Amino acid sequence: MYVCLCKGVSDRQIRQSVDDGARSWRQIQNETGCATQCGKCACVGKQIMRDAVREAMVADVESLAYAV
Ligand code: FES
Repeated sequence: MYVCLCKGVSDRQIRQSVDDGARSWRQIQNETGCATQCGKCACVGKQIMRDAVREAMVADVESLAYAV
């Protein structure tokens, strides 16, 4: 779904940025342009980023647990 109508950014693009290594809202903004115009999408965009980062961190911990 589209999160940012001004810049045409979807939740999938935000998740992809996190998968590619972005871990801060600033990085997401630089890579996608989300919330760089009117800013009304910032809360939703940040929440999607937080969820994606949490999922990525859990996956990292799980992969470490299997490595031990
Ligand atoms: Fe995202 Fe306007 S809706 S900057």
